Amino acid sequence: MSQPSALSTNGLSRRKFMAGTVSAAAAAPLLASRAEAATPVAAEPKLRRPVVTSLRINEQPYELSLDARTSLLDALRDHAGLTGTKKGCDHGQCGACTVLVDGKRVLSCLSFAAMNDGKDITTVEGLAPSDGKLHPMQQAFIDHDAFQCGYCTPGQILSAIGCVNEGHAESENDIREYMSGNICRCAAYPNIVAAILQARDETKGA
Ligand code: FES
Ligand code: FES
Repeated sequence: MSQPSALSTNGLSRRKFMAGTVSAAAAAPLLASRAEAATPVAAEPKLRRPVVTSLRINEQPYELSLDARTSLLDALRDHAGLTGTKKGCDHGQCGACTVLVDGKRVLSCLSFAAMNDGKDITTVEGLAPSDGKLHPMQQAFIDHDAFQCGYCTPGQILSAIGCVNEGHAESENDIREYMSGNICRCAAYPNIVAAILQARDETKGA
Protein backbone atom coordinates (compact mmCIF):
# COMPACT_ATOMS: atom_id res chain seq x y z
CA MET A 1 0.00 0.00 0.00
CA SER A 2 1.42 3.35 -1.01
CA GLN A 3 1.92 6.10 1.64
CA PRO A 4 -0.07 9.36 1.12
CA SER A 5 2.15 12.26 0.20
CA ALA A 6 2.61 15.22 2.60
CA LEU A 7 0.55 17.38 0.23
CA SER A 8 -2.37 15.06 -0.03
CA THR A 9 -2.46 14.60 3.77
CA ASN A 10 -2.99 18.37 4.12
CA GLY A 11 -5.99 18.14 1.80
CA LEU A 12 -4.14 19.61 -1.21
CA SER A 13 -3.50 17.35 -4.18
CA ARG A 14 -0.34 17.68 -6.25
CA ARG A 15 -2.46 18.65 -9.28
CA LYS A 16 -4.19 21.52 -7.41
CA PHE A 17 -0.91 22.72 -5.93
CA MET A 18 0.78 22.88 -9.36
CA ALA A 19 -2.21 24.61 -10.94
CA GLY A 20 -2.17 27.25 -8.23
CA THR A 21 1.57 27.84 -8.58
CA VAL A 22 1.34 28.25 -12.35
CA SER A 23 -1.57 30.67 -12.22
CA ALA A 24 0.19 32.76 -9.51
CA ALA A 25 3.32 32.96 -11.65
CA ALA A 26 1.27 34.01 -14.66
CA ALA A 27 -0.46 36.74 -12.68
CA ALA A 28 2.75 38.21 -11.20
CA PRO A 29 3.71 40.44 -14.18
CA LEU A 30 0.17 41.73 -14.39
CA LEU A 31 0.16 42.63 -10.70
CA ALA A 32 3.58 44.27 -11.04
CA SER A 33 2.49 46.39 -13.98
CA ARG A 34 -0.66 47.44 -12.10
CA ALA A 35 1.49 48.41 -9.11
CA GLU A 36 3.75 50.44 -11.38
CA ALA A 37 0.79 52.20 -12.93
CA ALA A 38 -0.51 53.04 -9.48
CA THR A 39 2.82 54.53 -8.28
CA PRO A 40 2.60 58.31 -8.56
CA VAL A 41 5.37 59.90 -10.62
CA ALA A 42 7.74 61.69 -8.25
CA ALA A 43 7.26 65.42 -8.50
CA GLU A 44 10.19 67.39 -9.88
CA PRO A 45 12.08 68.87 -6.90
CA LYS A 46 11.45 72.57 -6.63
CA LEU A 47 14.45 74.68 -7.47
CA ARG A 48 15.92 76.24 -4.38
CA ARG A 49 15.45 79.92 -4.09
CA PRO A 50 18.68 81.82 -4.72
CA VAL A 51 20.34 83.49 -1.76
CA VAL A 52 21.53 87.02 -2.30
CA THR A 53 25.04 87.21 -0.85
CA SER A 54 26.98 90.42 -0.37
CA LEU A 55 30.74 90.03 -0.48
CA ARG A 56 33.45 92.62 -0.51
CA ILE A 57 36.06 91.13 -2.79
CA ASN A 58 39.37 92.93 -3.21
CA GLU A 59 37.71 96.07 -1.82
CA GLN A 60 34.93 95.97 -4.41
CA PRO A 61 31.31 95.25 -3.42
CA TYR A 62 29.64 92.26 -5.08
CA GLU A 63 26.01 91.20 -4.71
CA LEU A 64 25.64 87.66 -5.99
CA SER A 65 22.45 85.66 -6.38
CA LEU A 66 23.53 82.11 -5.56
CA ASP A 67 22.23 78.67 -4.81
CA ALA A 68 22.72 78.30 -1.04
CA ARG A 69 25.04 75.35 -1.69
CA THR A 70 27.54 77.39 -3.75
CA SER A 71 31.04 77.27 -2.32
CA LEU A 72 32.99 80.46 -1.88
CA LEU A 73 35.42 79.08 -4.47
CA ASP A 74 32.71 78.62 -7.11
CA ALA A 75 31.22 82.01 -6.25
CA LEU A 76 34.58 83.66 -6.87
CA ARG A 77 35.39 81.79 -10.06
CA ASP A 78 32.00 81.27 -11.70
CA HIS A 79 29.95 84.21 -10.44
CA ALA A 80 32.45 87.01 -9.72
CA GLY A 81 34.69 86.04 -12.67
CA LEU A 82 37.83 85.93 -10.50
CA THR A 83 39.57 82.81 -11.75
CA GLY A 84 42.91 83.50 -10.07
CA THR A 85 41.80 81.31 -7.16
CA LYS A 86 42.35 77.74 -8.28
CA LYS A 87 40.34 74.57 -7.78
CA GLY A 88 42.62 71.62 -7.12
CA CYS A 89 40.95 68.87 -5.11
CA ASP A 90 37.70 70.69 -4.14
CA HIS A 91 37.92 68.68 -0.90
CA GLY A 92 40.10 70.73 1.42
CA GLN A 93 43.23 68.74 0.81
CA CYS A 94 45.51 70.77 -1.47
CA GLY A 95 45.30 74.46 -0.50
CA ALA A 96 45.07 75.70 -4.11
CA CYS A 97 41.85 77.56 -3.29
CA THR A 98 43.21 79.52 -0.31
CA VAL A 99 41.90 83.08 0.04
CA LEU A 100 41.89 85.55 2.92
CA VAL A 101 38.56 86.17 4.67
CA ASP A 102 38.78 89.18 6.98
CA GLY A 103 42.55 88.69 6.84
CA LYS A 104 42.51 84.99 7.84
CA ARG A 105 43.34 82.23 5.39
CA VAL A 106 40.42 80.04 4.41
CA LEU A 107 40.02 77.10 2.05
CA SER A 108 37.34 78.55 -0.19
CA CYS A 109 36.26 75.11 -1.46
CA LEU A 110 35.13 74.20 2.07
CA SER A 111 33.23 77.40 2.82
CA PHE A 112 29.75 78.24 1.54
CA ALA A 113 29.61 81.66 -0.08
CA ALA A 114 26.50 82.52 1.92
CA MET A 115 28.45 81.97 5.18
CA ASN A 116 30.72 84.84 4.16
CA ASP A 117 27.97 87.40 3.66
CA GLY A 118 29.30 90.86 4.55
CA LYS A 119 32.92 89.72 4.82
CA ASP A 120 36.09 91.00 3.18
CA ILE A 121 37.63 88.53 0.76
CA THR A 122 41.12 88.91 -0.68
CA THR A 123 42.12 86.89 -3.74
CA VAL A 124 45.35 86.97 -5.71
CA GLU A 125 43.81 89.54 -8.07
CA GLY A 126 43.60 92.00 -5.17
CA LEU A 127 47.17 91.81 -3.90
CA ALA A 128 49.08 94.15 -6.17
CA PRO A 129 48.60 97.81 -5.35
CA SER A 130 47.38 100.02 -8.17
CA ASP A 131 50.82 101.65 -8.68
CA GLY A 132 51.89 98.75 -10.89
CA LYS A 133 54.13 97.12 -8.28
CA LEU A 134 53.56 93.60 -7.06
CA HIS A 135 52.81 92.68 -3.47
CA PRO A 136 56.12 91.86 -1.71
CA MET A 137 55.11 88.20 -1.46
CA GLN A 138 54.38 88.02 -5.20
CA GLN A 139 57.71 89.66 -5.96
CA ALA A 140 59.54 87.26 -3.63
CA PHE A 141 57.98 84.24 -5.39
CA ILE A 142 59.35 85.58 -8.68
CA ASP A 143 62.75 86.43 -7.19
CA HIS A 144 63.12 82.91 -5.77
CA ASP A 145 61.58 81.05 -8.70
CA ALA A 146 59.07 79.61 -6.24
CA PHE A 147 56.88 77.89 -8.83
CA GLN A 148 57.02 75.84 -11.99
CA CYS A 149 53.55 75.23 -13.45
CA GLY A 150 52.09 77.94 -11.20
CA TYR A 151 48.80 76.18 -10.49
CA CYS A 152 49.28 76.15 -6.73
CA THR A 153 50.86 79.61 -6.65
CA PRO A 154 47.86 81.87 -5.92
CA GLY A 155 46.96 79.65 -2.97
CA GLN A 156 50.60 79.50 -1.83
CA ILE A 157 50.91 83.29 -1.91
CA LEU A 158 47.66 83.94 -0.03
CA SER A 159 48.55 81.25 2.49
CA ALA A 160 52.04 82.70 2.89
CA ILE A 161 50.59 86.13 3.69
CA GLY A 162 48.23 84.53 6.22
CA CYS A 163 51.10 82.54 7.69
CA VAL A 164 53.24 85.67 8.20
CA ASN A 165 50.37 87.63 9.73
CA GLU A 166 49.58 84.77 12.13
CA GLY A 167 53.18 84.97 13.40
CA HIS A 168 54.00 81.54 12.03
CA ALA A 169 56.92 82.50 9.82
CA GLU A 170 59.61 83.05 12.44
CA SER A 171 61.78 80.16 11.27
CA GLU A 172 62.15 77.85 8.26
CA ASN A 173 60.69 75.03 10.33
CA ASP A 174 57.69 77.14 11.28
CA ILE A 175 57.10 78.07 7.67
CA ARG A 176 57.30 74.44 6.55
CA GLU A 177 54.89 73.40 9.29
CA TYR A 178 52.34 76.17 8.79
CA MET A 179 52.47 76.02 5.00
CA SER A 180 52.07 72.25 4.98
CA GLY A 181 48.42 72.51 3.91
CA ASN A 182 49.50 73.93 0.56
CA ILE A 183 50.62 71.17 -1.75
CA CYS A 184 52.92 71.84 -4.69
CA ARG A 185 53.01 69.06 -7.27
CA CYS A 186 56.11 70.66 -8.77
CA ALA A 187 57.83 70.44 -5.37
CA ALA A 188 59.00 74.04 -5.31
CA TYR A 189 59.02 73.89 -1.51
CA PRO A 190 62.60 75.11 -0.78
CA ASN A 191 62.05 78.10 -3.07
CA ILE A 192 58.68 78.86 -1.46
CA VAL A 193 60.29 78.89 2.00
CA ALA A 194 63.04 81.22 0.73
CA ALA A 195 60.43 83.54 -0.80
CA ILE A 196 58.47 83.74 2.43
CA LEU A 197 61.62 84.52 4.41
CA GLN A 198 62.43 87.32 1.99
CA ALA A 199 58.95 88.88 2.05
CA ARG A 200 58.22 88.25 5.73
CA ASP A 201 59.15 91.65 7.14
CA GLU A 202 57.57 93.68 4.33
CA THR A 203 54.39 91.59 4.50
CA LYS A 204 53.69 91.92 8.23
CA GLY A 205 50.51 93.92 8.59
CA ALA A 206 50.52 94.80 4.86
S1 FES B 1 40.68 73.02 -3.92
FE1 FES B 1 40.33 73.62 -1.89
S2 FES B 1 41.80 72.53 -0.76
FE2 FES B 1 42.03 71.76 -2.76
S1 FES C 1 54.18 75.21 -9.06
FE1 FES C 1 53.20 73.50 -9.99
S2 FES C 1 51.98 72.74 -8.41
FE2 FES C 1 53.15 74.23 -7.44
